[in-house]
Parts: sequence; C-alpha cells; structure tokens
Amino acid sequence: MIDKTEIERIKQVIVEKLSSIHTLKRVQKINQLVDEIAGQEERETESLSSEEQVVTPWVVSGKIDHDKVIEKFGCKRIDESLIDRVERLTSRRAHVFLRRGFFYAHRDLDKILDCYESGKKFYLYTGRGPSSESLHLGHLIPFLFTKYLQEAFKVPVVIQITDDEKKIWKKLEKEETKRLGRENVKDIIACGFDASNTFIFSSYATVGGKFYENVVEIADCITVNKANSTFGFTGEVSTAKMIFPSLQAAPSFSSSFPHKLFPDEKKNIPCLIPCAIDQDPYFRLTRDVAPRLDFIKPALIESKFFPALRASGNNGKMSASDANSAIYINDSAADIKKKINSAVTGGRDNLEDQKKYGANLKEDIPFQYLSFFLEDDAELEHIKKEYGEGRMTTGDVKKRLVQVVTEIVERHRMARAAVTDEMVDAFMTPRPLFE
Ligand code: TRP
Repeated sequence: MIDKTEIERIKQVIVEKLSSIHTLKRVQKINQLVDEIAGQEERETESLSSEEQVVTPWVVSGKIDHDKVIEKFGCKRIDESLIDRVERLTSRRAHVFLRRGFFYAHRDLDKILDCYESGKKFYLYTGRGPSSESLHLGHLIPFLFTKYLQEAFKVPVVIQITDDEKKIWKKLEKEETKRLGRENVKDIIACGFDASNTFIFSSYATVGGKFYENVVEIADCITVNKANSTFGFTGEVSTAKMIFPSLQAAPSFSSSFPHKLFPDEKKNIPCLIPCAIDQDPYFRLTRDVAPRLDFIKPALIESKFFPALRASGNNGKMSASDANSAIYINDSAADIKKKINSAVTGGRDNLEDQKKYGANLKEDIPFQYLSFFLEDDAELEHIKKEYGEGRMTTGDVKKRLVQVVTEIVERHRMARAAVTDEMVDAFMTPRPLFE
C-alpha cells in the first residue's frame, strides 16, 4: 500500500531542499511528478491491498470509513437524543447537515448544551486556510453550518483565516495568501453571519498581544515528540510547521482575544468548534493542553468529508487541486451542469437494468449531494425510494441536483456581490462581541 503521508513528506523535503536552487515552478513540477509516480504505483498495488485510509489535516485518502475515523480519533458519535436536545434548546428544527448525519461526531457537545441550558454563553470558532481564490461547495459547508449555530444559539463567532498556514504548507507566496484570505472573507460573510457578533481575523494581521502570549503558553506544553506523533512530522519539517498547531489552537481560548472582544470578567468562555473531522488532531492536542493552562477544553462538532464529484462512494474529499471534481461558488450555470452530469453515480448501465435493480444510492454522488442540499425531507424521501427502486433515472436525479445547486450558488453569488470592502473591514475589526 502506498503511504500518502510519506509522499507528502517527500514533497515537503523536495520543497524545502530545492526551493533555494530551483524556481518555485520547477519544484511544483517535480512534486507533480512525485504524485504521478505515486498514483501509478497506487493503481498497481490497489488490487493487492485493501485501501488503507489516511486522515490528517493535510492528507485525506483511501477508502474513508467515517465510523473508523471516530474510533481512531476517539470522538463520539452524535446520536438522535443529542439532536433532539439541540432542537429542544433552540426551539427549531436541526439543520439538514445535522439531522441527516453529515455533522456526525463530537467532543463535549453535551457539556456545551449543559452550559447553554444553564443560561451561560459560549462562542463558536472556525476557520479557513486560504488556498484558492473561490470556495467550493465543500468549503462552504462548515460556514453555512456555523452560521446556523450562531443563529440558533445567538452566540458570537470567531473565524480564523490562516494565511500563515498556507504559506507554510502550500508554499504560496505570503502576499498571495493575504489576498486570497481577503477574497475568501467575502465568501464567508456572504454566508450570512451576524455582523454585530462575528469577528474574522487573519493570522498575519492579528497575532500579537494576548493571542501571542497564549500561543507561547500552548507551544510550551507541546514537545517535539508529541507534535511528531500527532501529525506524523519528521526531522525534515521546518519549525514553522511545529509552531503552527499552537496558532490554530489559540482561538479555542477566549483569553486569546483582544480585551475588547470578550470583556475581561468573561475570560474563560467555553468554545465550540464546528469543523471537518480532519482538523481533529489539532484540537485533540489543544484539549490535552487546556487543563495545564487552566483553560476550558474546547468542544467540537465534526463533519464527514464532502465527497468529490468524481470519486466513488466515500472515497476522498472534494479537493481544490482537481477543478473538475468540485463545484466552485463562481462556476457558471453551464459549468455546474457539465460537472454534475459527469459525476460518478450508482445508476445501472442501461434503462432496463435500472428499472430492474434500481440505483446503488451509497455509490451515487448526485443523490448524496441532494441529501446535503435538498431541504425538503418528503421530496428527498420520494427520490430515495423512486431512484433506489428503479422508477427514476440517473438523468432525473442529476437534473434536480443541477436545479438545487444552481439556486444555492446563485443565491451565494448575489450575497457575495453585495459584500463591500467596508464590510470586510468591519468584520475584521476587533470590537466587543459578548454583550
Ligand atoms: N486548518 C484549517 C484549513 O486548512 C483552517 C482553520 C483554522 C480551521 N482554524 C480552524 C478550521 C478552526 C476549522 C476550525 O482550512
């Protein structure tokens, strides 16, 4: 079995060793060749081994079994009773991402609900590493979900834009990551966050003061051995990669923020982090460190990976590096149609078989997308039955998905067009949130 973590490591070494003697373009080319060779090898070994899953904040590959990920990471599954409790406390229907099991794992979500029930507030923390100009649907998910949580619980949100992370990991130019970060902020604002209760901040622009004090405290609790075992680091990684986890950890503690943001007497406010489950290693570490610093462990609510259009079943996640595997928020209606039409499906090869056997819904990406984005439970149930039993064709399902996705993208595009530079500055200005 090809070891994806090892390949990423080789690529890191290439970037680090060769960047000074070759142009960035050539180094990227070399990395591309490494990927190609690894891909060939993988295809050759595929038949020999069961595809091992790899989940780290940087590599998600193999046949992903989301139950195994929970087990391996040691988080808990979100069950019906927890969803009921969220509905009861917020007096509203749970978001589709929650009630259809897309956000499926947690750590201490019950404690956050206890705290909310007893009248205490908490805050939400999420983030984005700006690696592409426009977001794709998979990127949008944690933000749409965080926006729902903000609205349902009426709590403040902090959003970290890790421009530093993408300089360190993706070797993007520093100025470029800042520019992409600001572009991404517009997409994030367009998700509908409450302007009076949301602080968006870039690492480069904000880290200092109390935030930096906490970064040092956190980093001081993490040994090189611990970082290596949590993230699979080896001796070749730069020390920037060693420090970065503490930068992603710091916003989990309310005392990291400028005095104005969370007034002083509320220094230790509980934090809930909505994120995809590949971010869990960062926060496992954060939770280990918290008691040593007298901070509250952050709670987590974690999603599965959003499937790529062209990988079958649960294999991999939508990736920014294969433009055709993802639907971007700035794709035209024609692009969306073309991409959805080329998606992997569980429909049968011909109409006759489709009628006889029905579609394999587990392998059907258009159906899975509908289950994330089609709000109407009755219609989804109808499609599940009709398509699964062969009375509906793949073409019908794709057509419905094109409508649903086009509408979401169109709505987002309009909201984004209304985001001005002044709004971006306003969201990014530290100001009291916790009134
Ligand atoms: N590391 C994340 C990414 O690559 C960005 C991020 C920073 C984040 N802080 C976070 C994601 C908190 C979820 C929660 O996109």
